[in-house]
Amino acid sequence: MKLLVFAGSTRAQSHNRKLAREVAALATASGADVTHLELGDYDVPMYNADLEAQGTPADVMKLKQLFYEHPAWIICTPEYNASYPALLKNTLDWLSSPVKSDPVWKDDFRFSRGKVVGVLSASPGALGGLRSQSHLVPLLFNLHCWVSPKVFGLGRAHTAFDEQGKLAEEGNRARVQDVIDQVLWAASRLQAE
Ligand SMILES: Cc1cc2nc3c(=O)[nH]c(=O)nc-3n(C[C@H](O)[C@H](O)[C@H](O)COP(=O)(O)O)c2cc1C
Repeated sequence: MKLLVFAGSTRAQSHNRKLAREVAALATASGADVTHLELGDYDVPMYNADLEAQGTPADVMKLKQLFYEHPAWIICTPEYNASYPALLKNTLDWLSSPVKSDPVWKDDFRFSRGKVVGVLSASPGALGGLRSQSHLVPLLFNLHCWVSPKVFGLGRAHTAFDEQGKLAEEGNRARVQDVIDQVLWAASRLQAE
């Protein structure tokens, strides 16, 4: 199963980027064919329809194709003001905006339709950024994704990783593994249809 893993943060010491790296390692050990995406490697401006009218940015086109090629995704989102960050919204808005002149990419949800998505969050707070998930999940439904019912919010994230960047507590690792297992299970069944 081809699994795309990414975080909604580009911060150097980001807890969600650490979590995404841990997800990628655990999912690889579970047999998934993992692509670990860093959104900071792509040049995606703030969405503006006038800018788009001059041509969809090359990196947006690359991301559309990358997302399309992966039947399963796992997103690790920060929580900003009880929601998910602008980085995620901006990226997903660009990816869902149809390229009207392109016979393939004029289909707005081509990149996202039918994907199985696992949602994780990490925050220094006690709730682990769970409130960000309650906003991100409806957006994913709008993109015609299937969202894994199992979710996890990593609380006290600033103390949750050891010096190697691994989750220190077995309990947290097990909760992350539960989400990975459910995403891979559901994606393999939906693909078989
Ligand atoms: C503008 C802003 C709003 C925030 N709001 C929340 C919040 O509502 N809940 C929360 O748990 N943390 C909040 N935080 C703290 C973030 O969870 C924290 O900065 C976290 O480390 C960001 O994720 P990252 O480490 O992956 O970059 C906020 C941070 C910023 C910059």
